[in-house]
This record gives sequence, structure tokens and C-alpha cells, in this order.
Amino acid sequence: MKLLVCIIALFCICTAHNLTTAPVLVIHGINDNCDYGIVKSVSSHLETYAQCYPIGGDQAKMASIFYNINYQGKILCDKIHQDEQLKDGNFSILGISQGAVISKYIIEYCPLKHPVRSIVTFGGPHMGVSFAPTFPKETWLGTALAWIINKFVYFNFMQYLVAPADFWRDPTNPQGYLKHSRFLAEANNERNFDQNRKDLWLALKHARFVKWEQDTTIIPRESSWWGMYSPDYNIVSRFDTEVYKKDLIGIRTLEEEGRADFISIPGDHMKFSHDQINNIVRPVFTQ
Ligand SMILES: *[C@@H]1O[C@H](CO)[C@@H](O)[C@H](O)[C@H]1NC(C)=O
Ligand SMILES: *[C@@H]1O[C@H](CO)[C@@H](O)[C@H](O)[C@H]1NC(C)=O
Repeated sequence: MKLLVCIIALFCICTAHNLTTAPVLVIHGINDNCDYGIVKSVSSHLETYAQCYPIGGDQAKMASIFYNINYQGKILCDKIHQDEQLKDGNFSILGISQGAVISKYIIEYCPLKHPVRSIVTFGGPHMGVSFAPTFPKETWLGTALAWIINKFVYFNFMQYLVAPADFWRDPTNPQGYLKHSRFLAEANNERNFDQNRKDLWLALKHARFVKWEQDTTIIPRESSWWGMYSPDYNIVSRFDTEVYKKDLIGIRTLEEEGRADFISIPGDHMKFSHDQINNIVRPVFTQ
């Protein structure tokens, strides 16, 4: 009998030890749904709870395009509050593509007892996008599309109807961006500075930002590393942005303290394997 108790106690200690990795919330991208292959792979590799909620239920693909970011974030936040493993916070986020923008919502606006623990984003448009996917400036269609979008994007109806309008950045019109961007300018503390939002980023144990070297969806792809376009469409690295220089949202502090890193992987948007994902998230999510 004593032996049995001992064995059970030992078993409990061992399994408890294995569960020290915080739960992981996977947030899917635009025109996409939860990839439960990724969720299962991360969960078994890290031996922890992992979950993904399709935003908009059966209509996730449509919702990811046509619901604005605040609304998508609110839906996901409600799901988190209903999830026993996630509801108190202290979970890590794996944000994929537009999921990285919704991650900002969860970090900053979703009320949690403990702040989000760590984050890894893949191809996240942290400083927005300035061209439609696969239509860069070099193509006439890209230039034409950008011209049209730049004309209409900051009208409110677009911002209500199309999610990417919430993180569109017209590099030639920084004032228009600051005035009308319904989500990104606020979430990045570019419009109104809010110390509380910054503190929530500074509460992260670690942040890792992954860029696809041949990304043709996030334009400019340097946005995945908090870079952007200058008004004449040259790349501005994160070091030369106001967001970084003034440390508006804490990214500079995180990097200087060794709590943020920036890595790249070959290939176009969404080209990654389960092994790649696991190898990249493991050192971040297990600390
Ligand atoms: C739990 O962790 C221990 C030591 O880290 C390891 O030897 C063991 O295989 C793990 N158990 C499971 C069920 O993964
Ligand atoms: C957060 O999760 C980690 C890893 O599971 C754990 O060690 C830590 O105690 C937790 N912190 C809080 C405040 O619950």
C-alpha cells in the first residue's frame, strides 16, 4: 500500500514536472482556418496544452477577411475566457500571419489575470502592409491596386468591412494612417501613447519574430520584423522607425534586454514544416 502511494506520488511529481510549459494559443491568419496539425504537433512536442479557435466558427475564412480586427479579437478573447486552461492568462501565443495582429489585441485588450507569457509570430504584419498580396510595386497592377486602396482605405466603411484595412499603411500619407487606422496605429501606440499597453508587452518573457525571406503576401516583408516603407518606398528597418526609436510599445527594451529576437526562414508566406515550427517555438515557450 505504502509502495503504491509512493509510486503514485512519484508519478504525479514526474508528470507535473513535464507540464511546466505554459499552454499555447495558436492564432490563425487571414483567409485561413485553424491548422490542427500544427496545434497537435506543438502540443505533443512541448508536452503542453495547445489550442486554436477558428474566429467566426464555420465561417472562419470569411470572418478572417471581413470582420474587423477589434471584432475578431473580441470573439477570440471570449473563447479564451471560456477555456479552463487559458482563462487566467499566462499562456504563450503562436501568431501566424494576420494572427500576429490579433495577437496584439489579445496581449493589449483581452482582460486576463496574468499577462500573456511569450509570443512567436510568423510573417506577422507588425507595422502593417502597403501593397496587396503578390502585387508589389514593381507590377503595374500592384501600383494601380495600391493607388486605389490608398484612396479609399481610410474611409470608415472599408475599415469596418475588410480586416486588412485595419493594418494598411499608406507610406505616402502618414497623417492619414495616424488619423484613420482603426487598429494598428492605436495598438502600436503610434497615435495615443498608453503606458498600460506598453507594460503588457514588457511583461512578455520572450518575443520572437519570424520573417519569410521570400514573402510575397506581407509587403513589405520587413514588417514581420517591425520594419516598414519610407514615403518613397524604401525599406526602413525597425531601428529607424519611431515605434522602435521612441520605444513606443517596448520592442526596443525587449530586444536590448535579450528578450526579443528576429529570425528569418527561407521561402514564401506560410512555407513552414511542423519541425521548423517546433524548433523555433521550443526555446521561447519552454523558458
Ligand atoms: C517527463 O519528463 C521526464 C524528465 O524530464 C522524462 O524522462 C519523461 O519521459 C517525461 N514523461 C513523459 C510522459 O513525457
Ligand atoms: C506561468 O506559467 C509558468 C509555466 O507553466 C509557471 O512556471 C508560472 O508559475 C506561471 N505563473 C503564474 C503567475 O501563474
